[in-house]
Formats: sequence, C-alpha cells, structure tokens
Amino acid sequence: MYNIVSAIFLAENIKKIEIQAPRIAKKRKAGQFVMIRAGEHGERIPLTIAGSDPEKGTITIIVQGMGKSTRELNLKETGDTIHDIVGPLGTPSHIEKFGTAVSIGGGVGTAIAYPTAVALKEAGNYVITINGARTRDLVILEDEMKAVSDEAYITTDDGSYGFHGFVTQKLQELIDSGKPIDYVLAIGPIPMMKAVAEVTRPYGIPTVVSLNPVMVDGTGMCGGCRVTVDNETRFACVDGPEFDAHKVDFKNLSDRNRMYLPEEKQSVEAFSH
Ligand code: NAD
Ligand code: FES
Repeated sequence: MYNIVSAIFLAENIKKIEIQAPRIAKKRKAGQFVMIRAGEHGERIPLTIAGSDPEKGTITIIVQGMGKSTRELNLKETGDTIHDIVGPLGTPSHIEKFGTAVSIGGGVGTAIAYPTAVALKEAGNYVITINGARTRDLVILEDEMKAVSDEAYITTDDGSYGFHGFVTQKLQELIDSGKPIDYVLAIGPIPMMKAVAEVTRPYGIPTVVSLNPVMVDGTGMCGGCRVTVDNETRFACVDGPEFDAHKVDFKNLSDRNRMYLPEEKQSVEAFSH
C-alpha cells in the first residue's frame, strides 16, 4: 500500500496526487511513468510522473478523470492509499543542451511536459513553454511552467486567458517571428501532437511527442502499447513513451486507442451508478 500525502484538484476533474513512494522518487527521471492500481480489483493504468521529492520520498501524478480507473483514482483523498505502484518505467526523456527548446503542453498533457521542461532548463537550454487549454479554468501548472521558462505563454481556445487560439498557432507565431528554435516537445491530445508535428516539419525542427496508447503491463511483455514509428512497430512502454513526432503514425495510434471505447463507456456507466 502507498500512502497519499496530499490530493487536491487543480481544475475541474484534474487532480494532483502526491504519494509516498521513496524508491521511485529517488530513481525516476523526466519522461518516465508508473503503472498504478488504485484498488485491489482495479486495472493498471500508466501515469507519467509529474514530479518527485527524493528527500520527502514522494512522487506526484496528475490525473484527469476520464475512464473508470482515472475517476476512481480521482476520488482518493489525502490520507487514503493506493493499492500498488510499479515504476519508474519507460525510457527517460532525451535531454541535452539543444539551444532554444519549446515545451508545449496541451490540457492535462502539461503535467507531462512540465518535468521535461524542468530537465531542459537544468541542462542549460533557453526554455519557452506554451501551455494550452480550452478555457481559463482548465489551465494547470501555470506558476510551475512560468518558473522554469525563459518565456512562458498561455493559450486558450476560447480566448478567456492569454493568447486566443491553439498552441500550434502560438508556435507558428514564434517561428514566424524569426526566433531560432532547436527543439520542440509536445504533449497532449493526439490531434494536437499531430498538428505540432506538421507545424515543425517544413522547418526541420527536431520534435518529440509522448505517446499514450493503451498499456497493460508497462514492461514490454504484452504488446498492448504497440505504436508505429518510422513504419516499424515499437512498444511505447519500453521504447518510449517519447518518439520523433515526424515519424509517428498518429492515425494508427488514434484508431488503436478507439478500439475499446464501447467497453470503456460501459465501464464508466457501471461505475457512475
Ligand atoms: P484539450 O482537448 O483541452 O486540448 C488541449 C489543447 O491542445 C488545446 O487547448 C489546444 O491548444 C490544443 N489542441 C487540441 N486539439 C488541437 C488541434 N487539433 N490542433 C492544434 N492544437 C490542438 O485537451 P485535454 O482535454 O486536456 O486532453 C485530453 C486528451 O489528452 C485525452 O485524449 C488524453 O488521452 C490525452 N492525453 C495525452 C497524454 C500524452 O501522453 N500524450 C497525456 C495526457 C492526456
Ligand atoms: Fe505491454 Fe507495453 S504495455 S508491452
């Protein structure tokens, strides 16, 4: 059992949970994830580690209640426990001094972009962050992103806060301004990551995305998380989750993620009643 040190909502349906997990806190690197099972009979879900405090022995995850298991996790309060956690898993983010690095978080994807932005800053990059959400109330980690950025931008689809438009429009504006950009990291919904890849492709800007296929074991055994990258099958849990955005087959990822939608819907309905 793992104790929850704190659990607070950052926005509607998005909860930040800090968990006592000293060994993971000590070992984890930016870009890695854990497999979590909220209760004894729950399914195992992959969640990227948003941060850790090795001194305190805690890791932080940020969860958007979407399916049954994430909703179950979001019901947890400070003082509750998590049944089991395995990790850190996955290949850490490739970090080096690229020069100017843009870290883009779309919606709850910001929770995953954040630790890598921290690592990029620590490696001496000039870090620009673009933090996009549908509306002001859904903007998360604004202060944290600002604190690691040399330049920080917020975008909202409805214009209620910051730049009015998608993260891709802000990125295009930065490119058009003549700013030299050496590296882009984009994490968020699949259409966003695909759109970012199309913005940077003509300029040859190295671009990395973090993929979120369905995972079962998280250790390369089941093949559930297979994705197509550069026409080859790769396992996101061990070969990724970060891949070259210009080589990812986003349609295949999106089709595979939709395969279990009827079952997921059924499960959410049963859980809500
Ligand atoms: P959202 O739909 O609110 O989008 C967030 C932002 O992404 C928008 O504000 C916009 O700036 C940008 N965006 C969205 N669609 C775009 C498009 N077609 N072109 C350009 N930009 C676009 O995001 P949300 O509701 O917070 O995200 C939920 C989705 O993100 C879920 O499907 C979830 O599975 C996925 N997700 C992915 C990861 C990952 O590792 N890649 C992590 C967490 C969540
Ligand atoms: Fe099973 Fe990746 S989740 S191989």
